[in-house]
Amino acid sequence: MPDPSTSPHYVFDAYGTLFDVHAAALRHKEAIGPAWQELSRVWRAKHLEYTWVHALSQRPATFWDLAERSLDHALAAIGISMSGGVRQGLLAAYRTMDVYPEVVSVLSALKLRGARLAILSNGDPDMLEDAVRAANLADSIEVLLSVSAAGIFKPAPQTYRLATHRFGCSPADISFQSSNRWDIAGAKAFGFRCVWINRSGAADEYPDLAPDRVLGDLTGLL
Ligand code: LAC
Repeated sequence: MPDPSTSPHYVFDAYGTLFDVHAAALRHKEAIGPAWQELSRVWRAKHLEYTWVHALSQRPATFWDLAERSLDHALAAIGISMSGGVRQGLLAAYRTMDVYPEVVSVLSALKLRGARLAILSNGDPDMLEDAVRAANLADSIEVLLSVSAAGIFKPAPQTYRLATHRFGCSPADISFQSSNRWDIAGAKAFGFRCVWINRSGAADEYPDLAPDRVLGDLTGLL
């Protein structure tokens, strides 16, 4: 049995890193129509923008409420009308999102090696519990950290502090994985060792807050 006090700590962002945020629209693409990818892209971009506006204006909100509001904005902005059932289906998919293909095997291999694994996400606690259960990650992920405990969204430093506080370790003892480059910038500013999971081959940014490693998917962690 590995000694938990000396085990490596891996903290993962959730949406876009473990869970495929575009899987919801893919599942409903027939009902949405040809603009399904644009809808998914605008929905995700607005969802994130809303978290930053609420954080900076110091108006707490749930990630779920912002998911609904950003979806409604994206539908209106693109001019898509669809049944309330499809809208509900898109939102419900957030609770049972597909994981990227390598996620289950990589996380269970890390866990078998004695690593301690956590999710640190903007998602509300109930959203994260549902998604982890649906994706069969509950055996690998030891700790679910929702920023709701900090009352603000990433990249505020107090959100990353939830992880050091929970594990009783220094920021440099944590390897933080995110596909969101802005999240990597915030985590780096806090002091984590950062691995940018650049699934889409995106151009780099935030040159003064560079990741320690860049991987195309999670398999490079093994
Ligand atoms: C999260 C979003 C930012 O899971 O992807 O925190």
